[in-house]
Amino acid sequence: MKALDVNTLDVKALGGREAAESGDELALSPPLPGEALHARVARTLRDAITGGLLPGGTRLPGHRRLARALGVSRNTLVDALAGLEAEGYLRVQGRSGTVVCVPASFPEVAQPLDDLPLSAWATRALSGGVDDAGGEYTVDFRVGQPVPELYPEAAWTAALARQAGRLGRRTQDGRLSDPLGPLETRRALSAYLNAARGARVTPEMVMLTGGTQSALDALARVFLEPGRVAVVEDPTYPGARAALAATGAAVVPVAVDGGGLQPQHLPPQATLLYLTPGCQYPTGVTLGAARRAELILWARRGNAFILEDDYAADLHHTGRPLPVMQGLAPDRVILLGSFSKSLAPATRSGFLVAPPPVLRVLARTRPLTDRAPGTLDALALADVLDSGAYARHLRRARQLIAHRHEVLLAALAEWLPDWEVRGVASGLHVHVRLPADLSETQAVRAAARRGVALSAVAPLSASGGEPAVLLAFAHLPPDDIRRGVRLLATSLTASL
Ligand SMILES: Cc1ncc(COP(=O)(O)O)c(C=O)c1O
Repeated sequence: MKALDVNTLDVKALGGREAAESGDELALSPPLPGEALHARVARTLRDAITGGLLPGGTRLPGHRRLARALGVSRNTLVDALAGLEAEGYLRVQGRSGTVVCVPASFPEVAQPLDDLPLSAWATRALSGGVDDAGGEYTVDFRVGQPVPELYPEAAWTAALARQAGRLGRRTQDGRLSDPLGPLETRRALSAYLNAARGARVTPEMVMLTGGTQSALDALARVFLEPGRVAVVEDPTYPGARAALAATGAAVVPVAVDGGGLQPQHLPPQATLLYLTPGCQYPTGVTLGAARRAELILWARRGNAFILEDDYAADLHHTGRPLPVMQGLAPDRVILLGSFSKSLAPATRSGFLVAPPPVLRVLARTRPLTDRAPGTLDALALADVLDSGAYARHLRRARQLIAHRHEVLLAALAEWLPDWEVRGVASGLHVHVRLPADLSETQAVRAAARRGVALSAVAPLSASGGEPAVLLAFAHLPPDDIRRGVRLLATSLTASL
């Protein structure tokens, strides 16, 4: 039996294989956050045992000497050793002291994690995203940025406080377990959607979600699989395309023109069609009544569902938005909505509205992967909807967005008159068609050299489409918008 040499704690003396190679000394491992000292000592010794530095049969020195060598108190060491003994790494053998026991089948070295046994879903999901390059810019026009001014702090805080007081009582009466979300929020949402969006909704058709992405995931799981077809607009929202494609279904892009998706290019058969009819993402065009009717007919004939992403309706800043398609065909259109832009991303509040048979399926499949979002946020959402606070918030938010939008259009007209702006009524960005002699890459690179960031459209399109860029504006103060456009114009003059 070997004895641990604590005079140096030189693990070479222990005869361990790694020790002999590395010549390291046994020192206390660096602390982990929140870790107690005795647990750290135990981890150090456990790692030494499982890593082969303290081979089975090694006799540990007396407590006092070992504690001194590790720089801890005797009590701390005794606590650590008691734990390791209980775990089976040490055995107290009467007079001969404490002896190391190595579990028979313990792997000597941890496996490197560069060969993860990923599922086909994960592999597809990892290849489906669009990475927007990071980087610091003087003026950042890239899409997807939160707009801090759109957070109705006072109204939301008051609603949270009111509802927090009721949460305890609700928890006791057991009504919180509905996988679709609290009934009163689904009631409030139905009333809001029927009044403000021309929907045809009853609370039984509503499921609360953590945002559009979780709705897409839930529906994609239920309806798609390899061998099936999902249709998206071209260009489209990459989050939707990726969620649909991750199922292994074929995702067919259908070209968009100034009137939205062109129904004549639809495949004859598909299971889902992801659509942004109110404000096509990213071009901003609106789908007209005739095409809406054609798409509903196509869905009914083919037993397909239309996923209507109404992401920009509440951010409509010019005129009135068209009513949702769901109101025309509640049997075929599943309406998706999110408050991640119009309240704040942190609330993670969204919903889907589906025909009751679809909702009944989701109510049973959701508990396998997910739960309803936080009840407090859901109750606060019902509160701001019912009290009119959300409507008041939107009136203010729309004014702010409309003003910044005007500033952007004026700046573009002055500095870049040959950039053709689309998507003028809604949303937080504009879609700009570039002049014929300028490619997206040229525009994005030239802008970056002057500290201005833009989003290119090509990554959102299967066909590449016409050269265009997106400029998100709502998160930028007017002076920044003007400065950004001026820099953009000078960057192009300099690079040509
Ligand atoms: C087209 C589109 N749909 C939906 C969303 C909202 O998604 P989520 O609720 O998952 O944040 C966004 C946000 O960027 C969007 O651009």
